[in-house]
Formats: sequence, C-alpha cells, structure tokens
Amino acid sequence: MSNAFKLKQEQVQAALIVLYAPHRETQAKAFVEHFCEQLGDQCSEKTNAQSFVIRPKQKLDLTSLDSDAHIALVFDEEVYLQAVGPKPPGPVSVAFEGNAMIHRLKHGGGKGEQVAKAVGLGKVPQDRQLTVLDATAGLGRDALILAALGCKLDLYERNPVVRELLKDGLERASLVSDVADVTSRMSLNGEDFITVGDSLESESYDVVYLDPMFPDRSKSALVKKEMRVFKQLIGGDEDADALFEPAYRLAKHRVVVKRPKAAPFLAGKTPSLQLKGKSGRFDIYTKKAF
Ligand SMILES: C[S@@+](CC[C@H](N)C(=O)[O-])C[C@H]1O[C@@H](n2cnc3c(N)ncnc32)[C@H](O)[C@@H]1O
Repeated sequence: MSNAFKLKQEQVQAALIVLYAPHRETQAKAFVEHFCEQLGDQCSEKTNAQSFVIRPKQKLDLTSLDSDAHIALVFDEEVYLQAVGPKPPGPVSVAFEGNAMIHRLKHGGGKGEQVAKAVGLGKVPQDRQLTVLDATAGLGRDALILAALGCKLDLYERNPVVRELLKDGLERASLVSDVADVTSRMSLNGEDFITVGDSLESESYDVVYLDPMFPDRSKSALVKKEMRVFKQLIGGDEDADALFEPAYRLAKHRVVVKRPKAAPFLAGKTPSLQLKGKSGRFDIYTKKAF
C-alpha cells in the first residue's frame, strides 16, 4: 500500500463507532475495511451485531475518555455523524438535495457570493467553465456553491469519515434531478492532496481552492455545536502550510485560501489581494489574469 493512503494517527482523534442498519451492512463493512487499512496497525476493530468499534490503539486510554469523545458514524437512509454522550448535538450529514440555495444559484443569483468572487467568477465570460481543484473538500459546501454557478470541480478529502459523508451526499443528490446536474460537476478523490499534488500536471486547473481547518483551540472557535464533532474528528490540519506549494504549481490563474479572520497567512505567503467578510477572509494569490 502506498504512503498516499496511510492515515496519520493524529488525524483520528477519538474512538469511532460505526453503526449500520441491516440494509447498509455491505457499505459499512467496506468502510471499516478501508478505514482500518488506512490506519494500519493503529486500528483495533471489534464487531458486534450491527456495529464496529474502531479505536486508535495507542492514542487513547479508553477508561479516561469522557463520553462525548466517542463519535458514531451511522449508515442508515443517509450516512451521518453523531456525537455520543449526554445531551449530544444534532447529527452531521451532507444533504445537498435539501439545500435551499441551489435554486437561487442555478438561476442567476450567487455571483455575489464571496467564494464566487474569490475564485474570479465575475471576471470570466458566462459561457466559460472554470475548472477548480478543491484540495480540502470537507462537507462540500463551498464546492456546491461553485458547482451550482457552473464550475467543474475535482475534490480531495483525505479523512475517510468525512469522505464517506460527502460520498453519500453526492450519491443521494445524484438521484434528485434538480441537484444532480449540479453535483455531476463535482468529482471526489480520496487522496491526501499534499501527497498526490506533486504527481499532477502543472497549471492543470484554472483555480486551486484551499480551506484547511485552522488549529484554533479557543472555545469561540467551536462555532456550531454540531460542528464540534467534525472538528474533533479532524483536528487542526496542522500540516496545512504544505498545501500551498502544490496548489500554486497546479493553478493556472489563482490560488484561493479561506482563512478565519485573525489567522496568519497560509505558509507565511502574503496574498496578492484579500476579500474580507464578517468572520473570515479569502486570501487570493494571482498568477495570470483570466
Ligand atoms: C474546514 S474543512 C473544509 C470545508 C469545506 N470548504 C466546506 O465548504 O465544507 C477542511 C477539510 O480539509 C480536509 N483536508 C485537510 N488537509 C487535506 C489534504 N492535505 N488533502 C485532502 N484533504 C485535506 C480535512 O480533512 C477537512 O475535512
């Protein structure tokens, strides 16, 4: 197995419980197999009826875990992530088909969206399709906006749990006609972009988009309650600076980096321009005008 698929131990922060409805057993099993393959010998797996418990072996002393450090990944009608413990927050899933924004974006609204401005959609003719590599896809929210505005996107998501949520969201969306034409412009890859970036051809995308997690540990950074579980799972993407070099090489026109308001520049690189919003900003590194 190549290093590209090795998941680093620090990328799995808590014990993961995989639960599945009877009709989703095959999918859940395939996920567990793949996940443990990525974790290598960090992974211990216990199987019960309709559940697997996956624990990174050396990282955690399970007796000292507070209960909400457990996360359940549930395979049911949809795949969702659920914190386990007293008063848990709501589930996290990818529901593109229920996204109220899509209709507006598809019918002309949306060029004013900050992310659309940041990638330069206002600067290209209506009939030109921008190609975007989203190297940190997450739950695909930014990518969905860009796809609804006509961009063609290749997405990279290295965390297998997040990728499973996104994959499930894309599959369900493909069954709903109004959304399917949008999500058909989003194609998901499972690799770590830092590792595979070097093997991709230079300047093969108009724009490379980066939105790594920012390692801010203050309470205020834990925005929505539901998103805590997401942050718990991913950690702080501490190696994010290493995204910059391959991203810059692959972009023909610009690299766009989404950052929290007070965060330093990615890899210490000063951007050519910035778009500032209420809670965050986009740092834009231009290479060539559109
Ligand atoms: C803040 S989230 C991105 C949110 C996304 N922009 C959205 O709109 O939903 C960052 C994601 O990037 C992923 N990530 C970080 N570094 C990565 C890398 N080198 N390759 C692939 N995915 C990466 C993390 O696993 C995490 O899911």
